[in-house]
Amino acid sequence: MGDKGKVVLAYSGGLDTSVATMWLTEQGYDVITMTADVGQKEVDLEASKNKALHSGAIKAYVMDLRKQFVDQFVWPALKSNGMYQGTYPLNSALSRPLIAQTLATIAKKEGAVAVAHGCTGKGQDQVRIEVCTNALDPKLQVLAPVRDWHFSREAEIAYAKEHGIPLSITAASPYSIDENMWGRSIECGALEDPWNEPPEDAFDITVAPAKAPDEPEFVEIAFEKGLPVALNGEPMNGVTLIETLNAIAGKHGVGRIDMIEDRLVGFKSREVYECPAAMTLLAAHRAMETLTLDKQVIACKKVLETKFAELTYEGYWFSPLMDAIGAFNDETQIYVNGVVRLRLFKGQAVVCGMKSANAIYKHDLATYSEGDAFDHAAAVGFIKIWGLPIKTWQQVHQKQVPMEISCL
Ligand code: ARG
Repeated sequence: MGDKGKVVLAYSGGLDTSVATMWLTEQGYDVITMTADVGQKEVDLEASKNKALHSGAIKAYVMDLRKQFVDQFVWPALKSNGMYQGTYPLNSALSRPLIAQTLATIAKKEGAVAVAHGCTGKGQDQVRIEVCTNALDPKLQVLAPVRDWHFSREAEIAYAKEHGIPLSITAASPYSIDENMWGRSIECGALEDPWNEPPEDAFDITVAPAKAPDEPEFVEIAFEKGLPVALNGEPMNGVTLIETLNAIAGKHGVGRIDMIEDRLVGFKSREVYECPAAMTLLAAHRAMETLTLDKQVIACKKVLETKFAELTYEGYWFSPLMDAIGAFNDETQIYVNGVVRLRLFKGQAVVCGMKSANAIYKHDLATYSEGDAFDHAAAVGFIKIWGLPIKTWQQVHQKQVPMEISCL
């Protein structure tokens, strides 16, 4: 029994968190690990559990959090067209509040005094996990052993060997990867030079657009209250729909993103993502909203969407403003119902059709052909009044409009 009490550690099964398990044990804690399946491609939960126990954990939780991830985090983000700086679908950022929430829940159940994570002192995941944990349970301590211990990579490996921690046999990747079902984030290695095109080996869940099939593939996504409920006419739960769409869109090279991102802590970094399902669903959802939402709602929602993305990115998932934006978004989604058809081809997901029983688009108002129901005569009075302030301004100020006419 450790004299400092129990700590619940977010455990990935990698070197850092395995060494952290042993290190915290040596500091006097009883370590309980929590490994989450959030839809990352390669996750051997059983092996991860054994490794945690071999690294000194007194208990190892392995949890399938995919449904919770989709229902509580991904879907609110989709309703909000969630994209940080208009480009990053927030895949990594969205999983952090869920991890914090799960750590806090287990801590309560186990009577733990602290939770812990394996983030370094440089990234923003530490900020998200700690701010979210504090928001959920201000009494819980948050430990960050990897930030505190000052081990070099070599010292860490030596420590692992000395303590009998099994080292992974897979070759170390040059990249720092974080993956879940909403996308895969890739950093470091050759990507740190923005002049370098991302090497092909950085990608895993998308094929190179040039090597994608020469024939397009069409998908139809049905929405109810802003959320996808069927793929190609087949009703599906969120987890299955996203996983299926990742495979289909990934095969066509859809969802590769390469950006310079403004970090919360102030510097810029080069980020590469592959998010086939996310990019397809976001395109479809935005299209469905254009057909079903009022012009003013769309304009106001855009402002709040930017705020939503920033709050998510900056670790403010559990915050009063986020709750208020969530309520606004829910209200807007009531009529976002219908079907969107997209063409997946050589790296692009392009909307090529949409229909909705709640469409505000009316053919008889939009058409220039027969059947036009727009009142042309009413335009005369409308323009008179609409242009009145401009006309009055000109009458008062007599501003000269520069005009040059050259005759041929
Ligand atoms: N830049 C992204 C974010 O802050 C991705 C972070 C991914 N984490 C990683 N360990 N590679 O949300």
